[in-house]
Amino acid sequence: MSHEEFPTDGPAVVTCGLPYANGDLHIGHLRGYTAADAVNRSLKKLGQQSAYVCGSDMHGTPVALNSAKEGVSPEEYAMEYHEKYAETFPKFNVEFDNYGHTHDETNTEITREFVEKLEAAGYVYEDEILVAWDPEEDQPLPDRYVEGTCPYCGEQARGDECDEGCGRHLEPGEIEDPVSTLTGNPAEYREREHKYFAVSELADYLSEFLDRVEGTSNARNQPREWIEEGLKDWCITRDMDWGIDYPGEEDLVLYVWVDAPIEYVSSTKQYSERVGADEYDWEEVWGRDGGDGGEIVHVIGRDIIQHHTIFWPAMLHATDHAEPRSVCATGFVTIDGKGLSTSRNRAIWAEEYLDEGFHPDLLRYYLTTMGGFQQDLDFTWERFQERVNGELVGTVGNFVYRSMLFAARNFDGTPDADVSDEVRARIDDAVEQFEAAVRDYDVRNAGDAAVELAQFGNEYIQQHEPWQLEDGSDEQAQVIRDCLQVATAVAVLLEPTCPGKAETVWAQLGIDADVHAAETDAVHTEPGAFDEPDELFEKIEDDRVDELDAALEEKIAEATADDEDETEDPEMDESDLEPLIDERIDFDTFESLDIRVGRIESAEGVEGADKLVRLSVDIGVETRQIVAGLKQLHDVEELAGEKVIVLANLEKAELFGVESNGMVLAAGDQADLLTTKEDAEPGTKVL
Ligand code: 2FM
Ligand code: ZN
Repeated sequence: MSHEEFPTDGPAVVTCGLPYANGDLHIGHLRGYTAADAVNRSLKKLGQQSAYVCGSDMHGTPVALNSAKEGVSPEEYAMEYHEKYAETFPKFNVEFDNYGHTHDETNTEITREFVEKLEAAGYVYEDEILVAWDPEEDQPLPDRYVEGTCPYCGEQARGDECDEGCGRHLEPGEIEDPVSTLTGNPAEYREREHKYFAVSELADYLSEFLDRVEGTSNARNQPREWIEEGLKDWCITRDMDWGIDYPGEEDLVLYVWVDAPIEYVSSTKQYSERVGADEYDWEEVWGRDGGDGGEIVHVIGRDIIQHHTIFWPAMLHATDHAEPRSVCATGFVTIDGKGLSTSRNRAIWAEEYLDEGFHPDLLRYYLTTMGGFQQDLDFTWERFQERVNGELVGTVGNFVYRSMLFAARNFDGTPDADVSDEVRARIDDAVEQFEAAVRDYDVRNAGDAAVELAQFGNEYIQQHEPWQLEDGSDEQAQVIRDCLQVATAVAVLLEPTCPGKAETVWAQLGIDADVHAAETDAVHTEPGAFDEPDELFEKIEDDRVDELDAALEEKIAEATADDEDETEDPEMDESDLEPLIDERIDFDTFESLDIRVGRIESAEGVEGADKLVRLSVDIGVETRQIVAGLKQLHDVEELAGEKVIVLANLEKAELFGVESNGMVLAAGDQADLLTTKEDAEPGTKVL
């Protein structure tokens, strides 16, 4: 791995967290896969050699439990979903260079090799531990076979993860008040021999790794906290039949989180073997050739940060593999402000979306450009309509269509004229914006570069009014030539988010080349002759949205009636939200709160405090020193310049000996900083 600017000389691999092969895909899944697909396509636009690999996660209790409920073998069950996923992803233009699965021969073999290397390097030891046991069924209760209370935060948790609370991985035996999910009986604990990976020995390496790794700040900050608390060694075996056998042990399989990330390597190998190592060398990417490795970019959900920034780099390091260059962790997807719930059918299913007849790129655009990467993303059909009708129909589609229609009618396609310097420079600016965003893994901004360029195109055509110029004149030819170049460039820069539509634009422009393979310098490709184009996007009407809303409500109501209290993916579900305060305040009381727009001028950690930062915040009328608990949740170096909302007349406080004169407002466990959307200046009152 290098930290040289993209494009580098080495190959890159982009991965996305493997979906458990245990249920249908929904927009929660699609957010990650479309984002990673856009990252991969964007890197290639920069001229970076890159492959996008993934696979189905076939093992573990998530699959074993669901298959048992269906009365089929885990293998049959997982394979069925695996095949379904392999068919569904391309329908969303999610184009993996290889999509394997963790149960195949390649992964089984490479997993064994990893474990043998860990053992040979002295990182594996055996320990006698207490594991949860169902006395009635007389069987062990690994992972999702047991539920109870998280010892760290007190929330309801699964055997191996605190999925409703602090998000920590839990070791066997850690969960409190364990209850069997098979029978509902309180679980007992029994002694068993298990294998451990001595992750704690790698704490120093992991701290250094976190200082180097790129990507989103949440993927660095949370793990730093866990390391500071002290790393626990990691139990890497389970008492189960389903999984990859632990080499040399009859009764133990590997914990699913061992062989799952190894599939990133196995899937890369399969790709490499298909295209030939001369074209793409998996051994080089993963540092198996003794080199530093390629550019390994992991895109994940924020619930699996610990696995990708502690366990996985520890495994790679201990087995002499290259380390990831970046870990980008997305927030969750909510629907109408509430958490996805597959059991309550509060989800937009992948197939259901396609059955509605919407183009996949519309959802891709929404999921990749709605809000920041790390933030939770709320889906509503209204907002979907707003984004589609506004940016895609109104800006991109409108510009491309009107320019091409005019060109087809008056010039049979591209007029014979040179692109003006002004337009050439504007296109180059858009490329610069796009490239900077890609280097920052910021797919939203990369998409914005394309839409803003189309907006420029609309203003340009409006301003130059070619319809007022003499038909076929040089002046008219010039304006239209410029517009067509802008359309060509918009397609190149929009390709990572809307690959299907980008392809259509280039085809309609008569460009006989592959927009997917095109790099950013292809923004200057000359378009050809063409006929009248078709509209690129279709407006979504209000009554369609009403129907979609009603259908969503109805299916949630039906599922809730069927299944009163079972909830999956409960992040941000109603039950997690604080109840509303009944007592009302009058307007005068509200007005007595002096809430202002501010801009952070500088930020530095408060000495001796784990969580606090000292901020200097410009609130227009003056600059305030404010102490805030943001250290482990944000990159302190990146706070300067952020626009924030400040409660200015909160009484002063002293924290760790530092005076705090006001409060910076933030929401939720991740301290999501409140801000304004447009251009309100520091000092503006919030009312
Ligand atoms: O949390 C999950 O859905 C896991 N199946 C993700 C695995 S990602 C990787 F490490 F393989
Ligand atoms: Zn917890």
